[in-house]
Amino acid sequence: MKEKGLFICVEGLDGCGKTTQTRLLVKKLRKRGYNAIYTVEPSQGKIGRFIRRYCLHSTKRTSAVVEALLFAADRYEHVTNEIAPALKEGKIVVSDRYVYSSFAYQGAAGLDLKWIETINKHAVKPDLAIFVDVKPEVVVQRLKPKRSVMENLETQRKVREVYMKFVENSELIKIDGNKSIKDVADAILKVTLEFLKNLS
Ligand code: TMP
Repeated sequence: MKEKGLFICVEGLDGCGKTTQTRLLVKKLRKRGYNAIYTVEPSQGKIGRFIRRYCLHSTKRTSAVVEALLFAADRYEHVTNEIAPALKEGKIVVSDRYVYSSFAYQGAAGLDLKWIETINKHAVKPDLAIFVDVKPEVVVQRLKPKRSVMENLETQRKVREVYMKFVENSELIKIDGNKSIKDVADAILKVTLEFLKNLS
């Protein structure tokens, strides 16, 4: 493994099981002796907590521009305060959502992906980015009753379309998330261990 640590992010639609899978990956890596840590976006910092209150759990959706700027600001702090220091210590950082969520969600809301890239230019690039793919129809059923402003079928379909662009250009590795929790966890672990093997 590289001295600077390894940065992995796990992406997917709301309700795709990504948080469970991110936590399982950290647990399985630790069991194998890797110093892995879990982290999440929106972050646990001030801006992340503000986003949850102001953007996600509000009755009306905020403008996509404001969302993108807030998520980018939160990400900058997340990278500076949590991700970069842990990577410096040689840890494996596994983030439950990262910049691809901004491309997918704010991109699906109509924003230019190039602009989203520009405002996120300080975000360190993940070494490995995984997309847990679950059908939009399935996640929307799982998410009833609705918790956040992003969780309707049309939005989830558009979000998946953007994620799939990154799968097609190989920036994101797609894992079939429609299987059992164990099967999905095994598939994610396999991809990660293969990636680690190729580094050594
Ligand atoms: P979660 O905590 O269930 O993953 O929900 C976070 C929500 O925030 C989810 O609907 C996706 C959204 N989100 C964005 O729209 N843009 C972003 O950059 C990030 C990190 C999350």
